[in-house]
Amino acid sequence: MKNILVTCALPYSNGSIHLGHILEHIQADIWVRYQKFLGNNVYFICADDSHGTAIMLKANELKINPLLMIKNNFLEHKIIFQKFSILHDIYFTTHSKENYYFSLLLLNKIKLKKLLIKKKIIQFYDVDKNFFLPDRYIKGICPFCKVKNQYGDHCEICNNIYDSYNLINPISLLSNKKPILKKTKHLFLNTNLFKNILEKWISSCYLHDEIKNQLLCFLKNKLVDWNISRDNPYFGFKIPNKFIKNKYFYVWYDALLGYISTFKYFCNKNNLFCFNDFWNLNNNYDLYHFIGKDILYFHGLLWPIMLDILEFKKPTGLIVHGHVLINGKKMSKSLNNFISVKKWLNFLDSDSLRYYFATKLSLKSCDINLCWKDFVKTINSEIVNKFINIPSRICKFIENYFNNILSKKMFDINFYYYFVNKFDLINSFFLDFNYKKVLYEINNMIDLLNKFINDIKPWLLVNSKKNLKKLHKISTTIINIFKIISTYLSPIIPNLFCKIEKFLKIKLSIKNFHIPILDHKISKYKKMFLRIDECIIDDLF
Ligand code: 2FM
Ligand code: ZN
Repeated sequence: MKNILVTCALPYSNGSIHLGHILEHIQADIWVRYQKFLGNNVYFICADDSHGTAIMLKANELKINPLLMIKNNFLEHKIIFQKFSILHDIYFTTHSKENYYFSLLLLNKIKLKKLLIKKKIIQFYDVDKNFFLPDRYIKGICPFCKVKNQYGDHCEICNNIYDSYNLINPISLLSNKKPILKKTKHLFLNTNLFKNILEKWISSCYLHDEIKNQLLCFLKNKLVDWNISRDNPYFGFKIPNKFIKNKYFYVWYDALLGYISTFKYFCNKNNLFCFNDFWNLNNNYDLYHFIGKDILYFHGLLWPIMLDILEFKKPTGLIVHGHVLINGKKMSKSLNNFISVKKWLNFLDSDSLRYYFATKLSLKSCDINLCWKDFVKTINSEIVNKFINIPSRICKFIENYFNNILSKKMFDINFYYYFVNKFDLINSFFLDFNYKKVLYEINNMIDLLNKFINDIKPWLLVNSKKNLKKLHKISTTIINIFKIISTYLSPIIPNLFCKIEKFLKIKLSIKNFHIPILDHKISKYKKMFLRIDECIIDDLF
Protein backbone atom coordinates (compact mmCIF):
# COMPACT_ATOMS: atom_id res chain seq x y z
CA MET A 1 0.00 0.00 0.00
CA LYS A 2 1.31 3.44 -0.92
CA ASN A 3 1.04 6.54 1.25
CA ILE A 4 0.34 9.61 -0.83
CA LEU A 5 -0.26 13.27 -0.03
CA VAL A 6 -1.98 15.23 -2.81
CA THR A 7 -2.53 18.99 -2.99
CA CYS A 8 -4.04 21.54 -5.33
CA ALA A 9 -2.78 25.10 -5.45
CA LEU A 10 -4.44 27.11 -2.70
CA PRO A 11 -7.13 29.46 -4.08
CA TYR A 12 -6.92 33.11 -3.00
CA SER A 13 -9.42 34.32 -0.43
CA ASN A 14 -10.35 37.46 -2.35
CA GLY A 15 -12.87 36.07 -4.80
CA SER A 16 -14.97 33.19 -6.02
CA ILE A 17 -13.85 29.83 -7.30
CA HIS A 18 -13.62 29.89 -11.11
CA LEU A 19 -13.48 27.22 -13.80
CA GLY A 20 -9.67 27.18 -13.68
CA HIS A 21 -9.75 26.12 -10.02
CA ILE A 22 -12.41 23.54 -10.82
CA LEU A 23 -10.34 22.08 -13.66
CA GLU A 24 -7.38 21.60 -11.32
CA HIS A 25 -9.46 20.10 -8.52
CA ILE A 26 -11.22 17.75 -10.94
CA GLN A 27 -7.85 16.65 -12.31
CA ALA A 28 -6.57 15.92 -8.80
CA ASP A 29 -9.81 14.43 -7.50
CA ILE A 30 -10.01 11.88 -10.33
CA TRP A 31 -6.49 10.71 -9.52
CA VAL A 32 -7.16 10.63 -5.78
CA ARG A 33 -10.36 8.62 -6.24
CA TYR A 34 -8.51 6.20 -8.48
CA GLN A 35 -5.69 5.78 -5.94
CA LYS A 36 -8.28 5.19 -3.21
CA PHE A 37 -9.96 2.62 -5.44
CA LEU A 38 -6.61 0.81 -5.68
CA GLY A 39 -6.55 0.70 -1.89
CA ASN A 40 -3.73 3.21 -1.37
CA ASN A 41 -3.65 5.53 1.59
CA VAL A 42 -4.19 8.96 0.07
CA TYR A 43 -4.73 12.30 1.76
CA PHE A 44 -6.05 15.09 -0.45
CA ILE A 45 -5.64 18.49 1.16
CA CYS A 46 -6.25 22.08 0.18
CA ALA A 47 -6.79 25.46 1.80
CA ASP A 48 -7.50 29.08 1.06
CA ASP A 49 -4.50 31.31 0.42
CA SER A 50 -5.63 34.06 2.74
CA HIS A 51 -2.88 36.72 2.81
CA GLY A 52 -1.38 39.40 0.61
CA THR A 53 -1.96 42.76 -0.99
CA ALA A 54 -4.76 41.63 -3.31
CA ILE A 55 -6.78 40.43 -0.33
CA MET A 56 -6.12 43.58 1.67
CA LEU A 57 -7.17 45.81 -1.23
CA LYS A 58 -10.26 43.76 -1.99
CA ALA A 59 -11.40 44.05 1.62
CA ASN A 60 -10.76 47.83 1.48
CA GLU A 61 -12.79 48.06 -1.70
CA LEU A 62 -15.67 46.12 -0.14
CA LYS A 63 -15.29 48.16 3.09
CA ILE A 64 -15.20 44.95 5.07
CA ASN A 65 -12.75 43.64 7.64
CA PRO A 66 -10.30 41.31 5.80
CA LEU A 67 -10.79 38.68 8.51
CA LEU A 68 -14.50 38.61 7.82
CA MET A 69 -13.93 38.55 4.07
CA ILE A 70 -11.58 35.57 4.20
CA LYS A 71 -14.00 33.75 6.48
CA ASN A 72 -16.92 34.30 4.10
CA ASN A 73 -14.91 33.22 1.08
CA PHE A 74 -13.61 30.19 2.93
CA LEU A 75 -17.15 28.97 3.60
CA GLU A 76 -18.20 29.61 0.02
CA HIS A 77 -15.14 27.88 -1.46
CA LYS A 78 -15.69 24.78 0.68
CA ILE A 79 -19.29 24.45 -0.47
CA ILE A 80 -18.45 24.91 -4.16
CA PHE A 81 -15.81 22.18 -4.06
CA GLN A 82 -18.22 19.83 -2.32
CA LYS A 83 -20.79 20.47 -5.03
CA PHE A 84 -18.28 19.37 -7.67
CA SER A 85 -17.72 16.17 -5.65
CA ILE A 86 -14.15 17.14 -4.80
CA LEU A 87 -13.22 14.83 -1.96
CA HIS A 88 -10.74 16.91 0.07
CA ASP A 89 -9.81 15.24 3.32
CA ILE A 90 -9.41 18.73 4.71
CA TYR A 91 -9.95 22.27 3.45
CA PHE A 92 -8.12 24.79 5.63
CA THR A 93 -6.69 28.32 5.46
CA THR A 94 -3.20 29.79 5.55
CA HIS A 95 -4.38 32.27 8.18
CA SER A 96 -3.79 29.80 10.99
CA LYS A 97 -1.56 29.40 14.01
CA GLU A 98 -0.11 26.24 12.45
CA ASN A 99 0.97 28.25 9.41
CA TYR A 100 2.50 31.00 11.53
CA TYR A 101 4.46 28.33 13.39
CA PHE A 102 5.96 26.93 10.17
CA SER A 103 6.64 30.43 8.83
CA LEU A 104 8.80 31.10 11.89
CA LEU A 105 10.36 27.64 11.88
CA LEU A 106 11.55 28.15 8.31
CA LEU A 107 12.78 31.68 8.99
CA ASN A 108 14.84 30.45 11.95
CA LYS A 109 16.33 27.68 9.83
CA ILE A 110 17.12 30.12 7.01
CA LYS A 111 18.96 32.29 9.52
CA LEU A 112 20.73 29.36 11.18
CA LYS A 113 21.94 28.13 7.81
CA LYS A 114 23.25 31.64 7.04
CA LEU A 115 20.94 32.03 4.08
CA LEU A 116 19.18 35.17 5.31
CA ILE A 117 20.20 38.44 3.68
CA LYS A 118 18.98 41.87 4.73
CA LYS A 119 19.33 44.54 2.08
CA LYS A 120 17.94 47.87 0.93
CA ILE A 121 16.13 48.04 -2.37
CA ILE A 122 14.32 50.77 -4.23
CA GLN A 123 10.63 50.30 -4.91
CA PHE A 124 7.79 52.30 -6.34
CA TYR A 125 5.75 54.10 -3.73
CA ASP A 126 2.30 55.63 -4.17
CA VAL A 127 2.46 58.97 -2.33
CA ASP A 128 -1.29 59.45 -2.55
CA LYS A 129 -2.07 56.13 -0.91
CA ASN A 130 1.08 55.88 1.28
CA PHE A 131 1.77 52.48 -0.09
CA PHE A 132 4.69 50.50 -1.55
CA LEU A 133 3.38 49.18 -4.83
CA PRO A 134 3.62 45.50 -5.68
CA ASP A 135 4.53 44.76 -9.32
CA ARG A 136 0.96 44.00 -10.31
CA TYR A 137 -0.19 47.46 -9.18
CA ILE A 138 2.07 49.30 -11.60
CA LYS A 139 1.73 49.53 -15.33
CA GLY A 140 3.87 51.20 -17.96
CA ILE A 141 5.69 50.75 -21.25
CA CYS A 142 7.71 47.53 -21.62
CA PRO A 143 11.43 48.43 -21.55
CA PHE A 144 12.11 45.71 -24.16
CA CYS A 145 9.40 45.85 -26.85
CA LYS A 146 8.01 49.29 -25.91
CA VAL A 147 4.41 48.05 -25.86
CA LYS A 148 2.15 50.12 -23.56
CA ASN A 149 0.12 48.92 -20.59
CA GLN A 150 2.42 46.21 -19.20
CA TYR A 151 2.65 45.13 -15.54
CA GLY A 152 5.67 45.79 -13.35
CA ASP A 153 7.08 42.28 -13.45
CA HIS A 154 6.65 40.83 -16.90
CA CYS A 155 5.59 41.82 -20.41
CA GLU A 156 2.64 39.85 -21.75
CA ILE A 157 3.65 40.68 -25.31
CA CYS A 158 7.37 39.84 -25.47
CA ASN A 159 7.41 37.72 -22.26
CA ASN A 160 10.51 39.45 -20.89
CA ILE A 161 10.90 39.66 -17.12
CA TYR A 162 12.17 42.91 -15.58
CA ASP A 163 12.16 44.98 -12.38
CA SER A 164 9.27 47.38 -12.10
CA TYR A 165 11.56 50.45 -11.97
CA ASN A 166 12.65 49.63 -15.55
CA LEU A 167 9.14 50.33 -16.85
CA ILE A 168 8.88 53.48 -18.98
CA ASN A 169 6.26 56.01 -17.77
CA PRO A 170 5.06 53.94 -14.78
CA ILE A 171 1.59 54.58 -13.38
CA SER A 172 0.15 53.42 -10.05
CA LEU A 173 -3.06 51.47 -10.61
CA LEU A 174 -4.28 52.59 -7.20
CA SER A 175 -4.19 56.34 -7.78
CA ASN A 176 -3.50 56.58 -11.52
CA LYS A 177 -0.56 58.81 -10.64
CA LYS A 178 3.15 58.48 -11.28
CA PRO A 179 4.71 56.68 -8.30
CA ILE A 180 8.02 57.76 -6.76
CA LEU A 181 11.01 55.52 -6.08
CA LYS A 182 11.77 54.99 -2.39
CA LYS A 183 14.33 52.94 -0.46
CA THR A 184 13.13 50.14 1.78
CA LYS A 185 14.88 47.36 3.71
CA HIS A 186 13.86 43.73 3.15
CA LEU A 187 14.69 40.13 4.02
CA PHE A 188 15.90 37.87 1.22
CA LEU A 189 16.50 34.16 0.99
CA ASN A 190 19.81 33.37 -0.67
CA THR A 191 18.85 30.77 -3.28
CA ASN A 192 22.11 30.76 -5.16
CA LEU A 193 23.59 27.68 -3.55
CA PHE A 194 20.68 25.42 -4.49
CA LYS A 195 21.34 24.94 -8.18
CA ASN A 196 22.79 21.40 -7.84
CA ILE A 197 20.16 20.33 -5.35
CA LEU A 198 17.42 21.50 -7.70
CA GLU A 199 18.99 19.82 -10.72
CA LYS A 200 19.12 16.55 -8.83
CA TRP A 201 15.52 16.86 -7.68
CA ILE A 202 14.28 17.81 -11.17
CA SER A 203 15.93 14.75 -12.70
CA SER A 204 14.17 12.42 -10.26
CA CYS A 205 10.80 14.19 -10.08
CA TYR A 206 7.72 12.97 -11.98
CA LEU A 207 7.29 15.76 -14.56
CA HIS A 208 6.25 16.06 -18.16
CA ASP A 209 9.36 16.59 -20.32
CA GLU A 210 8.21 20.08 -21.31
CA ILE A 211 7.98 21.06 -17.65
CA LYS A 212 11.35 19.51 -16.89
CA ASN A 213 12.93 21.53 -19.69
CA GLN A 214 11.22 24.70 -18.55
CA LEU A 215 12.62 24.25 -15.05
CA LEU A 216 16.10 23.51 -16.37
CA CYS A 217 15.77 26.62 -18.49
CA PHE A 218 14.92 28.73 -15.40
CA LEU A 219 17.98 27.21 -13.74
CA LYS A 220 20.33 28.24 -16.55
CA ASN A 221 20.11 31.81 -15.29
CA LYS A 222 21.52 32.70 -11.90
CA LEU A 223 18.88 32.21 -9.21
CA VAL A 224 18.04 35.59 -7.76
CA ASP A 225 17.69 36.14 -4.00
CA TRP A 226 14.02 35.82 -3.05
CA ASN A 227 12.42 38.76 -1.24
CA ILE A 228 10.34 37.12 1.49
CA SER A 229 9.18 40.26 3.33
CA ARG A 230 6.70 43.02 2.53
CA ASP A 231 6.11 46.54 3.79
CA ASN A 232 3.39 47.73 6.09
CA PRO A 233 0.41 47.97 5.43
CA TYR A 234 -0.01 44.32 4.55
CA PHE A 235 -2.52 41.62 5.41
CA GLY A 236 -0.44 38.67 6.61
CA PHE A 237 1.85 37.44 9.38
CA LYS A 238 4.07 40.02 11.00
CA ILE A 239 7.75 39.09 11.04
CA PRO A 240 9.19 39.34 14.59
CA ASN A 241 11.12 42.58 15.08
CA LYS A 242 14.30 40.73 15.96
CA PHE A 243 14.60 39.78 12.25
CA ILE A 244 13.42 43.08 10.75
CA LYS A 245 11.26 45.95 11.96
CA ASN A 246 7.68 46.46 10.86
CA LYS A 247 7.54 43.97 7.97
CA TYR A 248 5.31 41.05 7.01
CA PHE A 249 5.92 37.67 5.41
CA TYR A 250 5.34 37.76 1.63
CA VAL A 251 2.14 35.88 0.75
CA TRP A 252 3.92 33.28 -1.41
CA TYR A 253 6.25 32.41 1.47
CA ASP A 254 3.43 31.41 3.80
CA ALA A 255 1.15 30.10 1.01
CA LEU A 256 3.60 27.35 0.10
CA LEU A 257 4.04 26.50 3.76
CA GLY A 258 0.26 26.16 3.80
CA TYR A 259 0.72 22.66 2.34
CA ILE A 260 2.62 21.63 5.46
CA SER A 261 0.48 23.46 8.00
CA THR A 262 -2.78 22.18 6.48
CA PHE A 263 -1.54 18.62 6.73
CA LYS A 264 -0.36 19.28 10.30
CA TYR A 265 -3.81 20.58 11.25
CA PHE A 266 -5.45 17.58 9.57
CA CYS A 267 -3.21 15.09 11.44
CA ASN A 268 -3.83 16.79 14.79
CA LYS A 269 -7.56 16.96 14.22
CA ASN A 270 -7.79 13.28 13.33
CA ASN A 271 -5.25 11.96 15.84
CA LEU A 272 -3.01 10.71 13.06
CA PHE A 273 0.64 10.23 13.86
CA CYS A 274 1.94 10.22 10.30
CA PHE A 275 2.84 13.92 9.94
CA ASN A 276 6.58 13.44 10.52
CA ASP A 277 6.64 10.23 8.51
CA PHE A 278 5.25 11.99 5.48
CA TRP A 279 7.92 14.67 5.41
CA ASN A 280 10.77 12.43 6.58
CA LEU A 281 13.55 12.24 3.97
CA ASN A 282 14.14 8.55 4.60
CA ASN A 283 10.57 7.40 4.00
CA ASN A 284 9.27 6.75 0.54
CA TYR A 285 5.95 8.48 1.02
CA ASP A 286 4.74 10.32 -2.05
CA LEU A 287 3.87 13.99 -2.45
CA TYR A 288 2.06 15.26 -5.59
CA HIS A 289 1.11 18.86 -6.32
CA PHE A 290 -1.46 19.77 -8.99
CA ILE A 291 -0.83 23.31 -10.25
CA GLY A 292 -1.37 25.67 -13.18
CA LYS A 293 1.54 26.43 -15.49
CA ASP A 294 1.66 30.08 -14.35
CA ILE A 295 2.92 29.15 -10.88
CA LEU A 296 5.60 26.68 -11.90
CA TYR A 297 8.49 28.91 -10.77
CA PHE A 298 7.20 28.90 -7.20
CA HIS A 299 6.56 25.14 -7.04
CA GLY A 300 9.46 23.98 -9.14
CA LEU A 301 12.23 26.14 -7.69
CA LEU A 302 11.35 28.04 -4.51
CA TRP A 303 9.25 25.33 -2.85
CA PRO A 304 11.89 22.56 -3.14
CA ILE A 305 14.43 25.04 -1.75
CA MET A 306 12.17 25.75 1.25
CA LEU A 307 11.69 22.02 1.82
CA ASP A 308 15.42 21.44 1.56
CA ILE A 309 16.09 24.06 4.22
CA LEU A 310 13.45 22.48 6.47
CA GLU A 311 15.05 19.08 5.76
CA PHE A 312 11.65 17.87 4.57
CA LYS A 313 10.89 15.56 1.65
CA LYS A 314 10.60 17.22 -1.78
CA PRO A 315 7.67 16.61 -4.17
CA THR A 316 7.47 13.27 -5.99
CA GLY A 317 5.67 14.91 -8.89
CA LEU A 318 4.22 18.16 -10.22
CA ILE A 319 1.15 17.79 -12.40
CA VAL A 320 0.87 21.00 -14.38
CA HIS A 321 -2.21 22.00 -16.37
CA GLY A 322 -2.90 24.83 -18.82
CA HIS A 323 -5.55 27.56 -18.71
CA VAL A 324 -9.26 27.06 -19.34
CA LEU A 325 -10.52 28.73 -22.51
CA ILE A 326 -14.18 29.26 -23.39
CA ASN A 327 -14.84 28.66 -27.09
CA GLY A 328 -11.14 29.23 -27.72
CA LYS A 329 -10.95 32.54 -25.86
CA LYS A 330 -9.73 33.58 -22.43
CA MET A 331 -12.60 33.99 -19.99
CA SER A 332 -13.39 37.61 -19.38
CA LYS A 333 -16.35 39.67 -18.29
CA SER A 334 -15.86 42.07 -21.19
CA LEU A 335 -16.12 39.23 -23.76
CA ASN A 336 -19.37 38.18 -22.08
CA ASN A 337 -18.10 34.62 -21.84
CA PHE A 338 -17.49 34.61 -18.10
CA ILE A 339 -19.35 31.88 -16.24
CA SER A 340 -19.18 31.65 -12.51
CA VAL A 341 -19.04 28.21 -11.08
CA LYS A 342 -22.11 28.90 -8.93
CA LYS A 343 -24.03 29.69 -12.10
CA TRP A 344 -22.83 26.49 -13.73
CA LEU A 345 -24.41 24.47 -10.96
CA ASN A 346 -27.75 26.23 -11.44
CA PHE A 347 -27.94 24.91 -14.99
CA LEU A 348 -25.74 21.85 -15.31
CA ASP A 349 -24.45 19.02 -13.16
CA SER A 350 -20.90 18.46 -12.00
CA ASP A 351 -20.33 15.05 -13.61
CA SER A 352 -20.75 16.50 -17.10
CA LEU A 353 -17.96 19.02 -16.52
CA ARG A 354 -15.77 16.38 -14.84
CA TYR A 355 -16.26 14.11 -17.86
CA TYR A 356 -15.63 16.82 -20.43
CA PHE A 357 -12.45 18.07 -18.76
CA ALA A 358 -11.26 14.46 -18.43
CA THR A 359 -11.57 13.95 -22.21
CA LYS A 360 -8.91 16.65 -22.56
CA LEU A 361 -6.56 16.02 -19.64
CA SER A 362 -3.15 14.38 -19.69
CA LEU A 363 0.25 15.28 -18.26
CA LYS A 364 0.63 17.89 -21.01
CA SER A 365 -0.01 21.44 -19.90
CA CYS A 366 -1.72 22.74 -23.02
CA ASP A 367 -4.76 24.98 -22.58
CA ILE A 368 -8.12 23.25 -22.16
CA ASN A 369 -10.84 24.59 -24.42
CA LEU A 370 -14.41 24.39 -23.18
CA CYS A 371 -16.25 24.65 -26.47
CA TRP A 372 -20.04 24.66 -25.97
CA LYS A 373 -21.05 22.81 -29.08
CA ASP A 374 -18.45 20.16 -28.46
CA PHE A 375 -19.37 19.94 -24.77
CA VAL A 376 -23.07 19.29 -25.49
CA LYS A 377 -22.20 16.86 -28.29
CA THR A 378 -19.68 14.92 -26.19
CA ILE A 379 -21.95 14.52 -23.16
CA ASN A 380 -25.06 13.67 -25.16
CA SER A 381 -23.37 11.24 -27.50
CA GLU A 382 -20.88 9.56 -25.15
CA ILE A 383 -22.67 9.47 -21.79
CA VAL A 384 -26.33 9.58 -22.80
CA ASN A 385 -26.56 7.84 -26.20
CA LYS A 386 -23.81 5.30 -25.78
CA PHE A 387 -22.97 4.56 -22.15
CA ILE A 388 -26.06 4.99 -20.03
CA ASN A 389 -28.18 3.72 -22.90
CA ILE A 390 -26.75 0.23 -22.39
CA PRO A 391 -28.82 -0.79 -19.33
CA SER A 392 -31.88 0.95 -20.77
CA ARG A 393 -31.61 -1.24 -23.91
CA ILE A 394 -32.01 -4.46 -21.93
CA CYS A 395 -33.59 -3.60 -18.60
CA LYS A 396 -37.11 -4.12 -19.86
CA PHE A 397 -36.28 -7.78 -20.63
CA ILE A 398 -34.74 -8.34 -17.21
CA GLU A 399 -37.71 -6.73 -15.57
CA ASN A 400 -40.51 -8.25 -17.67
CA TYR A 401 -39.22 -11.79 -18.01
CA PHE A 402 -36.83 -12.36 -15.12
CA ASN A 403 -38.18 -10.28 -12.24
CA ASN A 404 -34.93 -8.24 -12.19
CA ILE A 405 -32.90 -11.28 -11.22
CA LEU A 406 -29.74 -12.00 -13.20
CA SER A 407 -29.08 -15.50 -14.51
CA LYS A 408 -26.80 -18.01 -12.80
CA LYS A 409 -24.46 -18.23 -15.79
CA MET A 410 -23.23 -15.86 -18.44
CA PHE A 411 -23.71 -16.17 -22.14
CA ASP A 412 -20.09 -15.60 -23.10
CA ILE A 413 -17.64 -15.54 -20.23
CA ASN A 414 -14.67 -14.87 -22.55
CA PHE A 415 -16.33 -11.77 -23.90
CA TYR A 416 -16.84 -10.62 -20.31
CA TYR A 417 -13.18 -11.25 -19.42
CA TYR A 418 -12.07 -9.26 -22.45
CA PHE A 419 -13.41 -6.18 -20.59
CA VAL A 420 -12.02 -7.24 -17.22
CA ASN A 421 -8.58 -7.72 -18.77
CA LYS A 422 -8.57 -4.13 -20.02
CA PHE A 423 -7.85 -3.20 -16.42
CA ASP A 424 -4.05 -3.19 -16.89
CA LEU A 425 -4.24 -0.71 -19.73
CA ILE A 426 -6.78 1.55 -18.01
CA ASN A 427 -4.74 1.35 -14.81
CA SER A 428 -1.55 2.44 -16.57
CA PHE A 429 -3.33 5.44 -18.12
CA PHE A 430 -4.86 6.52 -14.81
CA LEU A 431 -1.52 6.23 -13.03
CA ASP A 432 0.04 8.33 -15.77
CA PHE A 433 -2.64 11.06 -15.34
CA ASN A 434 -3.73 10.38 -18.90
CA TYR A 435 -7.52 10.60 -18.56
CA LYS A 436 -7.83 11.40 -22.24
CA LYS A 437 -6.55 7.91 -23.09
CA VAL A 438 -8.63 6.33 -20.31
CA LEU A 439 -11.76 7.71 -21.94
CA TYR A 440 -10.62 6.81 -25.44
CA GLU A 441 -10.25 3.16 -24.37
CA ILE A 442 -13.52 3.19 -22.44
CA ASN A 443 -15.40 4.59 -25.41
CA ASN A 444 -14.00 1.80 -27.59
CA MET A 445 -15.29 -0.70 -25.02
CA ILE A 446 -18.72 0.93 -24.98
CA ASP A 447 -18.88 0.83 -28.79
CA LEU A 448 -17.97 -2.83 -28.73
CA LEU A 449 -20.68 -3.64 -26.22
CA ASN A 450 -23.29 -1.69 -28.19
CA LYS A 451 -22.24 -3.54 -31.34
CA PHE A 452 -22.66 -6.84 -29.48
CA ILE A 453 -26.24 -5.84 -28.60
CA ASN A 454 -26.97 -4.74 -32.18
CA ASP A 455 -25.61 -7.98 -33.60
CA ILE A 456 -27.29 -10.35 -31.18
CA LYS A 457 -30.66 -8.53 -31.31
CA PRO A 458 -32.01 -9.54 -27.88
CA TRP A 459 -35.47 -8.22 -28.79
CA LEU A 460 -35.87 -11.13 -31.18
CA LEU A 461 -35.40 -13.68 -28.41
CA VAL A 462 -38.67 -13.27 -26.55
CA ASN A 463 -40.56 -15.73 -28.70
CA SER A 464 -39.73 -19.11 -27.14
CA LYS A 465 -38.81 -20.63 -23.79
CA LYS A 466 -35.45 -21.79 -25.10
CA ASN A 467 -34.63 -18.34 -26.45
CA LEU A 468 -35.72 -16.74 -23.21
CA LYS A 469 -33.05 -18.71 -21.40
CA LYS A 470 -30.52 -17.37 -23.86
CA LEU A 471 -31.89 -13.87 -23.44
CA HIS A 472 -31.49 -14.16 -19.69
CA LYS A 473 -27.82 -15.05 -20.03
CA ILE A 474 -27.21 -12.39 -22.66
CA SER A 475 -28.81 -9.65 -20.56
CA THR A 476 -26.79 -10.80 -17.56
CA THR A 477 -23.57 -10.63 -19.58
CA ILE A 478 -24.42 -7.13 -20.78
CA ILE A 479 -25.19 -5.93 -17.25
CA ASN A 480 -21.94 -7.40 -16.00
CA ILE A 481 -19.87 -5.75 -18.71
CA PHE A 482 -21.69 -2.50 -18.01
CA LYS A 483 -20.62 -2.92 -14.38
CA ILE A 484 -16.95 -3.28 -15.41
CA ILE A 485 -17.05 -0.20 -17.64
CA SER A 486 -18.85 1.79 -14.92
CA THR A 487 -16.12 0.91 -12.45
CA TYR A 488 -13.46 2.21 -14.84
CA LEU A 489 -15.47 5.42 -15.19
CA SER A 490 -16.18 5.80 -11.49
CA PRO A 491 -13.41 8.32 -10.56
CA ILE A 492 -14.52 10.58 -13.42
CA ILE A 493 -18.31 10.60 -12.88
CA PRO A 494 -18.80 9.74 -9.19
CA ASN A 495 -22.42 10.88 -8.91
CA LEU A 496 -23.61 8.81 -11.83
CA PHE A 497 -21.57 5.91 -10.50
CA CYS A 498 -23.39 6.15 -7.17
CA LYS A 499 -26.69 5.77 -9.01
CA ILE A 500 -25.30 2.83 -10.97
CA GLU A 501 -24.26 1.10 -7.74
CA LYS A 502 -27.80 1.56 -6.44
CA PHE A 503 -29.22 0.20 -9.69
CA LEU A 504 -26.92 -2.85 -9.53
CA LYS A 505 -27.41 -3.17 -5.77
CA ILE A 506 -23.71 -3.67 -5.15
CA LYS A 507 -20.77 -1.73 -3.69
CA LEU A 508 -17.87 -2.04 -6.09
CA SER A 509 -14.23 -2.09 -5.07
CA ILE A 510 -10.89 -3.24 -6.45
CA LYS A 511 -11.47 -6.55 -4.65
CA ASN A 512 -14.82 -7.41 -6.22
CA PHE A 513 -15.27 -5.39 -9.40
CA HIS A 514 -14.13 -8.25 -11.67
CA ILE A 515 -16.33 -10.90 -10.02
CA PRO A 516 -19.50 -11.31 -12.06
CA ILE A 517 -22.82 -10.67 -10.34
CA LEU A 518 -24.93 -13.75 -10.98
CA ASP A 519 -28.25 -14.91 -9.58
CA HIS A 520 -28.51 -11.42 -8.12
CA LYS A 521 -31.48 -9.12 -7.94
CA ILE A 522 -30.95 -5.63 -9.36
CA SER A 523 -33.20 -2.60 -8.96
CA LYS A 524 -35.92 -1.55 -11.35
CA TYR A 525 -34.28 0.65 -13.98
CA LYS A 526 -34.78 4.39 -13.66
CA LYS A 527 -33.29 7.13 -15.85
CA MET A 528 -29.90 8.00 -14.35
CA PHE A 529 -28.57 10.82 -16.52
CA LEU A 530 -30.36 13.53 -18.48
CA ARG A 531 -29.58 14.73 -21.97
CA ILE A 532 -28.32 18.33 -22.11
CA ASP A 533 -30.62 20.67 -23.95
CA GLU A 534 -28.70 23.21 -26.06
CA CYS A 535 -31.01 26.00 -24.83
CA ILE A 536 -29.45 25.60 -21.39
CA ILE A 537 -26.18 26.93 -22.75
CA ASP A 538 -27.91 30.14 -23.89
CA ASP A 539 -29.51 30.48 -20.47
CA LEU A 540 -26.14 29.97 -18.81
CA PHE A 541 -24.84 33.22 -20.32
O1 2FM B 1 -1.84 31.47 -7.80
C1 2FM B 1 -2.61 31.33 -6.85
O2 2FM B 1 -3.83 31.31 -7.00
C2 2FM B 1 -2.03 31.08 -5.48
N1 2FM B 1 -3.01 31.42 -4.48
C3 2FM B 1 -1.59 29.67 -5.37
C4 2FM B 1 -0.87 29.35 -4.12
S1 2FM B 1 -0.34 27.75 -4.18
C5 2FM B 1 0.55 27.50 -2.81
F1 2FM B 1 1.59 28.14 -2.77
F2 2FM B 1 -0.12 27.65 -1.81
ZN1 ZN C 1 7.60 43.64 -24.09
